[in-house]
Amino acid sequence: MSLSPAMLNLLKKHGEEHLLAHWGTLSEKERSSFESQLMQIDWSEVTACKNLVAKQRDNKHTIDRLHFDSAFTPTCHKLGAENTSSLKALKRGQEALAAGHVGAILMAGGQGTRLGFEGPKGTFPITTVSKGTLFDVLFGQLRAVKKRFGHNVPLAIMTSSATDNQTREFLKAANFCGLNSDFLFFFCQGNLPAVDATTHKLFLDSCDHIAVAPDGHGGMSQALAESGGLEWFQQHGCRTLVSFQVDNPLAKPVDPEFIGQHILSRSSLSTQVVPKLDPDERVGVVAELNGVTQIIEYSDLPPNIAADRLPNGRLKLFAGSIAIHAFDMRFLQDIASSSQTLPLHIAHKKVPFLNESGCLIQPNKPNAFKFERFIFDLMPLAEKVTVVEIDPKEGFAPLKNPSGARTDSPETVHKSLNAYAIRHLKSVGIEVAPGINVELDAASIFDDDDLQIIAQSGVFPKNHIDESVVVRSP
Ligand code: UD1
Repeated sequence: MSLSPAMLNLLKKHGEEHLLAHWGTLSEKERSSFESQLMQIDWSEVTACKNLVAKQRDNKHTIDRLHFDSAFTPTCHKLGAENTSSLKALKRGQEALAAGHVGAILMAGGQGTRLGFEGPKGTFPITTVSKGTLFDVLFGQLRAVKKRFGHNVPLAIMTSSATDNQTREFLKAANFCGLNSDFLFFFCQGNLPAVDATTHKLFLDSCDHIAVAPDGHGGMSQALAESGGLEWFQQHGCRTLVSFQVDNPLAKPVDPEFIGQHILSRSSLSTQVVPKLDPDERVGVVAELNGVTQIIEYSDLPPNIAADRLPNGRLKLFAGSIAIHAFDMRFLQDIASSSQTLPLHIAHKKVPFLNESGCLIQPNKPNAFKFERFIFDLMPLAEKVTVVEIDPKEGFAPLKNPSGARTDSPETVHKSLNAYAIRHLKSVGIEVAPGINVELDAASIFDDDDLQIIAQSGVFPKNHIDESVVVRSP
């Protein structure tokens, strides 16, 4: 089999004939799989990626401080303020959950390179006592909603080519961590080719394969619509969809007050933030810039702007995104049916490549540009945005870095989870002896009302815990 003349011309037109360097050595099967990859590539996207590389090269030394100078933090509603409006929101959110109007989307397509863990991040054992995985905790929370409100929260899981097979296999073997599989929907995000940082061309990672990487979670609304996921949510009666990341075991995507706030404010998009304290924290910030509410990713924010402080000492851009967004279903439907594409973001990364003699090289420093779209770039397209500030101790313990790292490591996550459990047990009168690990079973404990029942049941004599235990609600 030889390559079609049309494809050869296309490669020449884009200056990419070098990708055929090993064509002569390929079997028929390899040629056919290589050609089908070539045919799937959206060459207008490749041009857009290369243009972005050129633009970045030309602007390298002119970080546009002026562009960000006018940015400020929009009004944030505090969650759990226990005032009239927060109680009203809580009630509205509970009604929505009881009516089965809420669905969830889990972003599980990332490669987790920083964590250095083989396998999808969701399979990482994270709980302090039972060593349950991130999937166990996050799915458990949805089981607790079903137990409390009587309705399943339909869950769509977004994977990528890097995580799809392993995620499906793991969850199937784990019996979907106790969730009813009728309420689960899997869909896979797309890929974009990586570009060599020196030549600015595509490159191979095997003789018959071009190096690609997941295209970021920004393709979520399109991929969800194309896979039939939006329709699936609609059939389940969902009106609000909440997206959340796989790396935060304290995440409360279906927090009733957050959902109620979103619904009552008639927002197209609502988002949870925590106060960013240190300019170096790797969180995007919600900012109002040129009249538009948006999230500026930490990698896009000039360090001097990130460090600007208000007279009260707070960072000027303090609304740190924890990547939990609630969407009005109609907003996502409108986006999916429009021709709107989100901007591309660029990252300088290590990507394995094939050298001239056909050997696979694992680079030890960044050698390529990867391209991604971010879901939060939908924010500027939303008619109304609500920003909800939460206490990080109650909802943010991200796992990003390997064991031993100073921040966002398995150890720091354990510490946060344990402190959370001890604090909530104490609030209902159960004391935990010093140095003891306790775990709150996500699947049976929805909130302090469940803990109250446990405290009253006398399951812990004298309401004292002095050995490591998983606390479960009957
Ligand atoms: C992310 C957010 C950042 C936020 C922080 C909070 C992005 C681009 N940035 O940063 O604004 O403040 O979390 O913890 O999201 N994922 C996919 N597909 C992809 C890439 C990632 O599904 O192609 C998922 C990952 O599985 C993970 C999440 O997105 O659940 C975050 O990805 P990661 O690259 O780790 O983002 P951060 O840099 O930590």
